[in-house]
Amino acid sequence: MATSQGIRVGIVGCGYWGSKHVRVMQSLAQVGEVVLIDGRSDRTASLLRGMPGARTFEDLPSALPEVDAVVLATPPTTHAPLALAAIAAGKHVLVEKPMATTSADGRRLVEAATEAGVTLMVGHTFEHNAAVAKLRQLILQGDLGDLYNIDTARLNLGLYQSDVNVIFDLAPHDISIIINLLGSAPASVEAWAACHAHRRLEDMAYLRLSYPELNLTANIHVSWLDPCKVRRVTVVGSRKMAVYDDLAVDERIRVFDRGVTPPVDDQDLTQPPMAYRYGDITVPYLDFEEPLLVQDKHFIDCILTGGRPSTNGLNGLAVVEVLEALQISLRERRPVALDELRPEGSRPGPDPEESVSLIGSAL
Ligand SMILES: NC(=O)c1ccc[n+]([C@@H]2O[C@H](COP(=O)([O-])OP(=O)(O)OC[C@H]3O[C@@H](n4cnc5c(N)ncnc54)[C@H](O)[C@@H]3O)[C@@H](O)[C@H]2O)c1
Repeated sequence: MATSQGIRVGIVGCGYWGSKHVRVMQSLAQVGEVVLIDGRSDRTASLLRGMPGARTFEDLPSALPEVDAVVLATPPTTHAPLALAAIAAGKHVLVEKPMATTSADGRRLVEAATEAGVTLMVGHTFEHNAAVAKLRQLILQGDLGDLYNIDTARLNLGLYQSDVNVIFDLAPHDISIIINLLGSAPASVEAWAACHAHRRLEDMAYLRLSYPELNLTANIHVSWLDPCKVRRVTVVGSRKMAVYDDLAVDERIRVFDRGVTPPVDDQDLTQPPMAYRYGDITVPYLDFEEPLLVQDKHFIDCILTGGRPSTNGLNGLAVVEVLEALQISLRERRPVALDELRPEGSRPGPDPEESVSLIGSAL
């Protein structure tokens, strides 16, 4: 456990994203030491310039006796074996998204962490983002009315990954946002994707998540092959529509008081087919703090208090199940029900203590 000097955190994988965890963990008062763990010495060397004297290790096994907790920011296919090794050594683990690349591995991680009594958290950064919390509040308060549709786009030119396709790389963000907004996992999913520039890995995909109980479909477009950077979530309701644009720093959320109403008699062809309503566009205030900082602080707080992370192992598993079902859909060219993947009686999702499901609610 943590020493009186604070928790010793090992960052495993000090690349693009791991280096951000290094910066954020260093800023937390309860963190006594940040240890760098990466097989590439150029990666640790560039970070060492800003943190002289920091300890570095080439691999997780040699670092494990020296840390209390680890953040795994390595390629997705390494997450499960590294997390299992850390949990077996009694260490608390924050795994980057996706938590694992198969639901069987995801389940193993949840079970192992429960047995070992350690904190297992997943890096669903957007669930620690004030804009997503505001969008969820708008939905739950009924401000948008009945929900018709959620549409997300996460596009850019790159960054290509070498071990997973664009679905496993980018869609975990959108899937975790959608599960968070709706308070439940979809019943079934469908995927279309193509390998254009990459020979082996799909680099653009259109995904559909179905929520029949809500009479709602969520559509996700992810691409490494788009000239424009887009990070957008659109929620269309019967009363209002909301757009969350993560690139619009001063107005991440805009609420459009716009909509359409059908005529009383839609058989009367002398009437316009719809009446249009154009009202104000409002920009709700967000008490915005860097989501990675909020997330990593929450991880440390959970270690210290024994609290349950809001993005815990079950939450990570729910996203991994959707990803696996999407892969099956892609391979077999059919809709895939999430129940097909689950052992009898298990249905992971957001922590029921943390979330309010829209299913069965008044919406
Ligand atoms: N939450 C977010 O918003 C977010 C954003 C970007 C990336 N990520 C996730 O972070 C992870 C890393 O992505 P990245 O873009 O930083 O990749 P990257 O390639 O830039 O860095 C990965 C690093 O891991 C190291 N590594 C690989 N295997 C290792 C091992 N067994 N032990 C120690 N080090 C090892 C590599 O040498 C490399 O330096 C991925 O899971 C990705 O999905 C999350």
